[in-house]
Amino acid sequence: MAVPHVLIFPLPLQGPVNCMLKLAELLCLDKEIQITFINTEYIHQRLMNYTDVEVRFGKYPNFKFVTVPDGLPEDNPRIGDQIRLIIEGVEEVSSPLFKEMVMTTNSAPTCLIVDGIFTFALPIAKEAKIPLLYFDTISPCSLWTYLALPKLIEDGEIPFKGNDLDVLVNGMPGMEGVMRRRDLPSFCRTPDVDIPIIKHVIKEGKHIVQAQGLIFNTFEALEGPILSQFRALCPNIYAIGPLHTQMKAKLSSQRLPNTPTSNSIWKEDVSCIDWLDKQPNKSVLFVSIGSLATMSKAQFFEFWYGLVNSDTRFLWVQRPGSIIGLEDDNNNVPMELVESTKERGCIISWAPQEEVLARPSIGAFLTHSGWNSTLESIVEGVPMICWPYFVDQQVNSRYVGEVWKLGLDMKDVCDRITIERMVREVMDVKKIEFLERAKYMSDLAIASVGEGGSSYQDLDRLIEDIRLMRI
Ligand code: UDX
Repeated sequence: MAVPHVLIFPLPLQGPVNCMLKLAELLCLDKEIQITFINTEYIHQRLMNYTDVEVRFGKYPNFKFVTVPDGLPEDNPRIGDQIRLIIEGVEEVSSPLFKEMVMTTNSAPTCLIVDGIFTFALPIAKEAKIPLLYFDTISPCSLWTYLALPKLIEDGEIPFKGNDLDVLVNGMPGMEGVMRRRDLPSFCRTPDVDIPIIKHVIKEGKHIVQAQGLIFNTFEALEGPILSQFRALCPNIYAIGPLHTQMKAKLSSQRLPNTPTSNSIWKEDVSCIDWLDKQPNKSVLFVSIGSLATMSKAQFFEFWYGLVNSDTRFLWVQRPGSIIGLEDDNNNVPMELVESTKERGCIISWAPQEEVLARPSIGAFLTHSGWNSTLESIVEGVPMICWPYFVDQQVNSRYVGEVWKLGLDMKDVCDRITIERMVREVMDVKKIEFLERAKYMSDLAIASVGEGGSSYQDLDRLIEDIRLMRI
């Protein structure tokens, strides 16, 4: 029998790559399983530049990286709305190389784990007769809205009739009474449904349920009702998250070093940890919009005034390129902002986010509601203020605010008065209430990856199933 060999191919973006590397490392701990991890050249180079992945994964003789081109010009920023081009680039340029790796007779893979948006993988897996597991690194609740799209379009819910975004949307089992139009993925706000991104996600919804299984970075206590909906379509679900916590738990249980690890594709500014440790307990608001979201210069100043007027301490990640139209020299920044920031703010270009969220001085997280950021905040018991940017983030922020009650959803609003009000509410007026709720969910998240927990068991089952998938 062949040795179990998993070929892993993430969507080449910070969030999904981070997630799949965590899964890869968890599988590496099982020395019987070989892992080949496909990175695009762009992502790989950045990981090599800014992290220790080469050393970290170099310790595992059963692991290897391979790289493929992504088909985009070198100077493409690969942020914001480029996501569609990234998906299409991979499909056109990288997928034939993926196919060669699947079809090889030399140490052929016995299992494929790829991002859910890679619909090209299903026919390849079928042709090669190799089991395929789709790993959708977004939240199941947002993925569930993708699966509902054909029906929503058929029922005339999308495109929206009229401009009222507060109308409740029907036709999504398990989400009754929760989702307003404004909570659907951003691409649903279109007058024409015949657009590439909608076609991609509808195709994704049809393909993923045909795989041998679906892997999710979530846990039963958080998304049980939606996971049950998925099980009705695809019984083999592995809910193994939060993956970064699962990783820490496994390393501890095997008495392996458990120092903070980074899969960042930007250079982390670790000096912020010293700054954080000088601030009082639960006094700092962490502000970051992840790896892809951008804001206009006008929005940037609304945020800045809102933060300063709230009188709260803040640590703000201003990722290079994330503020559209801001001159490099910052000459136009009013002195009052600069002075107040010197007193109680810290601005950096990229944070060691997992470490930051775990510091005792962090009181809340103003986030774009990317799924990794949301889970990282949940695990550390940090309440959120959500300013979703696009795609799945609109759904995540609704769940944070309305369903899980872990914070406030600022959705579609970006003015200094609202920002100040929400920061005061989460950091002051309702601080205890939000912290208690966040602690409750954090305990559930940690329990899920502990021995016998739901995510612990699902990971064990996944590893066992991979071992059995020998040709
Ligand atoms: C993208 C999409 O935007 C998101 O909606 C989807 O859920 C996943 O893919 P991204 O914008 O990168 O994700 O957000 P997120 O999923 O939150 O991932 C960002 C990752 O970068 C997190 O793991 C976070 O810890 C890390 N990060 C972010 C840092 O390490 N430092 C930072 O300063 C900011």
